[in-house]
Order: sequence, then structure tokens, then C-alpha cells
Amino acid sequence: MCGIIGYIGKNNAAPILIDGLRRLEYRGYDSAGVAVLDPLGQIGVRKRIGRISSLAELLEQSPAAGNTGISHTRWATHGAVTDQNAHPHFDQSRRLVLVHNGVIENYATLRDQLASEGHQFESQTDTEVLAHLIGKHYEASILPPSKERLVDALRTALRQVVGTYGIVLLHQDLPDLLLGARRGSPLVLGIGKGENFFASDVSAIVAHTRDAVYLKDYDIVCLGSDDFEISSLAGKGGGFEVSRVEFSEQDVSRGDYPHYMLKEIFEQPATIRDAMRGRLNREESTAVLGGLQMSNAELRAVDRIILTGCGTASHAALCGEYIIESLARLPCEVEFASELRYRNLPITRDTLVFCISQSGETADTLAALRESRRKGHRALGICNNVASTIARESDGGVYMHAGPEIGVAATKSFTSQVTILSLIGLLLGRIRHLGSTEGRRIIDELEALPDKVARILECDAHIKAIAQKYAHSKAMMFLGRQYNYPVALEGALKMKEISYIHASGHPSAELKHGVIALITPELPSIFIAPEDGVLEKNISNIEEVRARKGPVIAITTEGCSKLDQIANDIIAIPRCPDFLSPILTAIPLQLLAYHTAVALGCDVDKPRNLAKSVTVE
Ligand code: G6P
Repeated sequence: MCGIIGYIGKNNAAPILIDGLRRLEYRGYDSAGVAVLDPLGQIGVRKRIGRISSLAELLEQSPAAGNTGISHTRWATHGAVTDQNAHPHFDQSRRLVLVHNGVIENYATLRDQLASEGHQFESQTDTEVLAHLIGKHYEASILPPSKERLVDALRTALRQVVGTYGIVLLHQDLPDLLLGARRGSPLVLGIGKGENFFASDVSAIVAHTRDAVYLKDYDIVCLGSDDFEISSLAGKGGGFEVSRVEFSEQDVSRGDYPHYMLKEIFEQPATIRDAMRGRLNREESTAVLGGLQMSNAELRAVDRIILTGCGTASHAALCGEYIIESLARLPCEVEFASELRYRNLPITRDTLVFCISQSGETADTLAALRESRRKGHRALGICNNVASTIARESDGGVYMHAGPEIGVAATKSFTSQVTILSLIGLLLGRIRHLGSTEGRRIIDELEALPDKVARILECDAHIKAIAQKYAHSKAMMFLGRQYNYPVALEGALKMKEISYIHASGHPSAELKHGVIALITPELPSIFIAPEDGVLEKNISNIEEVRARKGPVIAITTEGCSKLDQIANDIIAIPRCPDFLSPILTAIPLQLLAYHTAVALGCDVDKPRNLAKSVTVE
């Protein structure tokens, strides 16, 4: 949510910043801006509502030259989407300029106080208040301009602030310096040769360097073109570790695909394989998840599991609930992270909490993790972004290894998460009641998944034709039972997110308890009805829809002819055990949403009002 990139070096900053912003655009895209310090020591700010391409056009008309700069792509929290509210923001002296990701919760009080002291604000943002606060403390100092004076002003201001921030700032007095700080919002330091970077995530800088320091909460960084210094808000020297970024520039490019979403859908045979790589032990017929950092005896003592996350991750969690309960016979509950963080859930001593998050930065999931750990529970992460805050703050976990997911609508992360939850189910099951023969059979089935996913992807043209047929529907209904009820929720979410068609997901049997009232010849129902233990029940529900002339699209199993006469359109998936079917049934629904959105001319990778990583509450 909001993307930041800062540059200090010998090259022209603006093109590097614009390129970085394009890679961060998935974090927010309602407006964007840059501030560059020119060779005469003047700060030039260019900002504009709309996409990065509008900002790039503005810079062509009105270039901003200089070797030091900061920039931002916004997802509005405080203040409407206007040029004035776009970052960067000046302080009162207009010699300091700041970009910010996060929310300053006490900004109204601070703003009133500053206004009473004569400060005038140009925007409605909390960020401008922070810029003024830092600038006020800097201007109040009688010391000559220096790095120390600016850092002191920053520390004093940040101690007055309640909320979250990842910030980068520059000051006209100190042309060889960028300052960065974080609390609650991600910020990474990129170490180049004769040039250094700040960014909200490494995808923005991977074209320039793969050496990064993932900053911790309360870190304060002084960044020059050849050096950097990390201290803490408390004033002490902060420890840090330089990490090598796992992926390359290639991995964050779209390749020949028209959209990141399509690329990521098609990556799933590989990402599902990568989620399992090195984690299946045939000899012992179980999964090996060393990252959990728990012995089998400790896992054996677990008496309850809580799975939490937001959006798509919460749907993967629901799949996990069904899978873990059936494989390990352990009580398992799912709670939205945004609810869990404020609930006073009675939790037993041996409850294990899993926080699921692709980005590893989602504010609510992070808060749920912290609250669980504060209560003394072991809380584990299932994350994609290596070294993300959730990954670092959890007691252990499992990385997805799915590579960067750029499309705002989550696709490959969902199937990776469900794959990992299946591995967890297998591991917990094998130390409980699952026999080795059953364990081996599950391993065979898991290993067969990537090829089956590849076969579903071969049906892309067929799914596209179905999408085009129904693309002008006003609403859609997604229905599934048991393992595929969460997939119905996920299918509806995908459709809503990128095509803006109202869609809702329900357990098929709930149809007759209310939603059947919506069925008309104009409302398509998408039934996820593979040949599993509840197919006959799903068929009855399909009949109920057909009796009311509702069109039916059915996802079923190859070779199953039971739906031939009752569904208008059929998409077939290869046969697999019931509990693994969500990994297969999700794929046609991703493609259905994708092709519907394309048919409607929607901006698939950057749907309106959404952001990939929601780092505010
Ligand atoms: C946002 C995204 C969703 C995503 C959710 C959770 O709402 O738009 O696609 O599922 O955040 O993200 P996470 O990174 O925690 O998995």
C-alpha cells in the first residue's frame, strides 16, 4: 500500500525513480510524485494524479535533473486523490521533502498544534503533517546544518507520532544524504556501487542491485551514495544483515504476457512444485517442514490450530481448515486477521497460530501475529516475501517460494498456500493417525498436481470463450460444498476484484436459504462440482437453479458425464483426491475472472481502489 523509492548516486535520479515506481505501482496507483535535488541545491517536485505513466509524461514536459531523489506511488488513506495530496510533501520551510507509507494516527492533533504555531498546509494528508513536524524540529535547532541535526529532528518528531510509517526524506541543506525510517510499514535499503537506494520492496531496485538490508521497526538510516549508517529511534547503533535478493529483474518482468495476472496464473505448475520442493520425504511418507522449528513431539502436543489472514489468504486458510481437520483430525479454526486481532478468543495453551500472507506485510495479519505472540502463543507464518515483517517476527514458518506476485489479484499465492497447508496436514496427520501407506499415496497425489494444473491451463481458450459469453452479466454466483466452498468464495472474490461484476460465494446447500431468490435467466451460477463425496448433493442444487432457468457453468471432473445434461457450460479438471481439489478448481476460476475482465476492458493488474499489499489497518 503506497510504494516508495529513493535514489542517491551519480546517475540522473528521475528515470531510476520512475522505473522503480512502475515496479511498485501494484502497491497503489491513484497518484504519484518525485522530488529531485538539482545541482544548484533546489528541490524540484513533480506530482500528478493517475498512473505512473502520467507522471512520466509530466517529467518529459518539465524535467527534474539531479542525482538525489525520492518518489512515491499513492493509495489514498487521508485526503482525496488530488495533485496536492500526492507525495512528496514539503515542510513549512520548503527545504525538506518527504514520502511516506503508513498512517499517522494522531495527525489531526499534531496538525492543530502546528497550525496554531503558524504552519500552513497545502494538503489534507497525514504525511504533510509529519514533514512539517520534522522540519519544525530541524529549524528550531541552533546547530549548523549537519546529518546529526537532521537525524535529531527526525527522532524527536517520530517520538511524537502514533501510527505506522516507512519514510524517506531529503533536505536541501544536505545534498549528499537521504534519511529513511520505518515502523510498521516496510522499507528496504539497496546497496549498489557508488549508488544506494531505499524502496518499499526489492522488486523496485533489483535491476540495480541484489544486495539489500530489510530494515526493522525503529531503524533510522542515513544514506549516502557510498555508505550508510543504521541507528535506532532510541539513538543506539542498529544491527543489520545484508541479504542477497533471491529473484532477478527477469522475475519481476511481464515477459510476453499481456498482464502479470495471466503470467502468474500460468506459472502455477512451477510454483506449486516449488512449494513442495525438498519438503516431501518418501521414506517416512511425510512432509518435512524444518522452518516450523518444531519437533514432532511439540507438533504432537498441539491440540488446536488457528489459521488467519486477509482476502485470498483467508480463503486459503479456509481450505486449510478442511484439509487439516480431515488429514490430522485436529480442531482447526479460521478467523479474519482483522477480527482475530481484536477478539479475545479463548485459546488453549497448545494452540498453534498460522498467519498466512503473500506479502508478509498486511497490517491486520501482522497485528494478529503480534497479538497471538503477546499472549504467549506460538505463531507461525506462511509467507511468500522472504524477510518480510511477518516472516521475521513469527516463531517459524514455511516460505511459499512462488516468486514475486505483482498482479493485484492473488493467484499463484493462493495455490501455493493451499499446497503448503496440505503439507502441514500431511505432517500433522502422519504423527497422529495417518498410516505410511496413506502418507505415500498423498505424496504421489501431491507430486502429480503440477502436471494436472498444466492440463487445466491448456483449456484456456475454452474458458475464455465461456468468459466472453457471460461477461455482460450484472452479477454472478459461485457455489461449492466442503473443500470447494472456500474456492467458491475465492472465485467470487477474483471476479469482483478485477471485473467489477458483483459476485458472491456460498455453500451450495445454502442456496435455498435465501440466495435462490436472486436466480433469474440473467444470473449465471458457477458450481464447483468435481466428482467427489458431495457431487450428488451439488447436482440437486444445480437442478434447483435450472428449475428457475438460471444458467449454470460447472467445474467438474474429466470423464464425469453427470452434469452434461444440466449445465450450460462445463470446464473439466483432472481427477484428484477430494482434499486437493481446491488447488485444481481454483485455476479455471482465475482464468474465468481474468478473461471476463479483459472482455470488459478492465485494468486487470491494477483494479480500481485496490492495492496489492495493505499495510494500513
Ligand atoms: C489485499 C490484496 C489481496 C490479498 C490481501 C492479503 O487485499 O488485494 O489480493 O489477498 O491483500 O494479502 P497478503 O499479502 O497478506 O496475502
